Amino acid sequence: METIIRKTTDSDAFGLASEILRSGGLVAFPTETVYGLGGDALDPEASKKIYAAKGRPSDNPLIVHIAHKEDVYTLASYVPPAAEKLMERFWPGPMTIIFNKKDIVPDATTGGLGTVAIRMPSHPDAKRLIDESKVFIAAPSANTSGRPSPSTADHVIEDLSGRIDMILDGGAVDIGIESSIIDMTGEIPAILRPGYITKADFEEILGEVTIDPAIIKPDPNLRPKAPGMKYTHYAPKGSLTIIEDKAHPAEVSKAVTAEINRLVAESEALGKKVVVLTTAENRSSYSTENVILLGETGNGEEVARNLYSALRKCDDLEADLIYSEAFNRDKYGGAIMNRLLKAAGQKVILV
Ligand code: TXA
Ligand code: MG
Repeated sequence: METIIRKTTDSDAFGLASEILRSGGLVAFPTETVYGLGGDALDPEASKKIYAAKGRPSDNPLIVHIAHKEDVYTLASYVPPAAEKLMERFWPGPMTIIFNKKDIVPDATTGGLGTVAIRMPSHPDAKRLIDESKVFIAAPSANTSGRPSPSTADHVIEDLSGRIDMILDGGAVDIGIESSIIDMTGEIPAILRPGYITKADFEEILGEVTIDPAIIKPDPNLRPKAPGMKYTHYAPKGSLTIIEDKAHPAEVSKAVTAEINRLVAESEALGKKVVVLTTAENRSSYSTENVILLGETGNGEEVARNLYSALRKCDDLEADLIYSEAFNRDKYGGAIMNRLLKAAGQKVILV
């Protein structure tokens, strides 16, 4: 299939994209978090095409994107008052809410679950696409299953060109990691995926909030409530290991940089291609040329925005081994470390 590529500023972009969505085709589009791979959420055939294009297991449900808060009542069978408070505070924005679903939402979109994930994105191009096409857009991240989520249209082209009808290029995204997911179907609200909106942000509105235990400490006996969280996601092709200071987890101590330098030397001696993930401040602590800068320490927003590009760059550099510093777990740091640990398959060396 020939994939049509248009900038969101091209005059025919939204007309073409809307027509494709209305006739059951797939369009990748920018959101404020990552690029999404969109199809008509109420058309089971479109959802099946999304799974096929991504190579994604079909038990992993899709998020339904809406342009107006009222649309929740068309899709959800019950909207708890506490969820309405969240919608008021954080929509449009990087928050996905899990509701009990109405029959109108096909099983093909929810992976057979009785619940539906809904998000109202703040990106103007995403809003415009939903409005002009007049469809609710089911959209997972627009990457091949298992690869890092796309933060630019080029990432989408790399993964999905020739497999989908169209890519809308709206430039680089703003946030760079996927939305926070909160389940409002239980007695106590539960965070199923950490993101830009943090536990503290949710607690301010809701009071008690839990985090799905399966995502705090991955354990083969615990099944994450968001099925997607169980897959080794976000992973570069090379083997990534995080080096962390035992006593001061957030600190990139001398012991951490020394251990990374030692590992680099040891692996290079074996003829391996090695890449170090670091920050501007710590760059000079490493003797290797092969570093990728994630941003400035303490600037979580910048690190989040650069993280997936950095993981993809490791693939471009054909890295066999990748060593990364650890990040502060406060605020967005929790979401960054969640993604980084998944990319590392939970491999951490404590020094
Ligand atoms: O920021 C985002 O959320 C991006 C943009 C495109 O909106 N989308 C995204 O979608 O990250 P995806 O499919 O890559 O991740 C959706 C996650 C998966 O982990 C999935 O298992 C979970 O949401 N999910 C979807 N529906 C669910 C449901 N009914 N119950 C529990 N988890 C659900
Ligand atoms: Mg994804």
